[in-house]
Amino acid sequence: MPRYDIITIFPDYFSTLDISLIGKARTAGLVDIEIHDLRDHAEGVHKSVDDTPYGGGAGMVMSPEPWGKAIDEVTSNEIIHDLIVLTPAGKKFDQSMAEQFSKLEHLVFACGRYEGIDHRVTEYYGTQPTFRVHEVSIGDYVLNGGEVATLVMLEAIIRLIPGVLGNPESLAEESHTLTSNGEAIVEYPNYTKPAIWRELSVPEILLSGNHAAIKGYRHEEAIKRSQNRE
Ligand code: ADE
Repeated sequence: MPRYDIITIFPDYFSTLDISLIGKARTAGLVDIEIHDLRDHAEGVHKSVDDTPYGGGAGMVMSPEPWGKAIDEVTSNEIIHDLIVLTPAGKKFDQSMAEQFSKLEHLVFACGRYEGIDHRVTEYYGTQPTFRVHEVSIGDYVLNGGEVATLVMLEAIIRLIPGVLGNPESLAEESHTLTSNGEAIVEYPNYTKPAIWRELSVPEILLSGNHAAIKGYRHEEAIKRSQNRE
């Protein structure tokens, strides 16, 4: 089963990984998730993990030493590790990245805080033969740290692991599946009972029982929606 190690100064953020689909996947033995407190690798009475930036400027930078120790502790020379460094400066996360990550055996999530992690951590592991390093952003906005970004990535990745979703057919039909020419196409709008709600009716065609017509209608709606998102 794939293994995901998360390194953070706020392990409590990850208590939600016990519930819902991800919680079930963990108890079913479909994924192994371990959470590690970076501060366990900090020195001194204050267990400090950050310092002022070289060259000056506002804020604090996370020191490389605790990160090196924490990452070394969860990795070995035996297998390939994919180290994911969460940063707004990273490559934008999307569904195809989620699919790629969902096929990998060992992901290590480095959740930085403050003004980020000393860049030598990325540099160092980038030169190690058993590591691939990915700087990833979940979108063009600045969060207080990588914890929420890691949760977003995990949710998108874990549901793609075989056996995690009760109904794997929903995977094939859903939003952000790519068309054959590689464009993202979002899902058509969905309706359930009642047929009339606050004077709004469900589109007639969906009640017709004509599967081919319904398929065509849904495809058109999906295209409209996809174009409106640009
Ligand atoms: N850390 C701070 N902002 C972030 C973002 N947008 N994506 C990933 N990690 C971050």
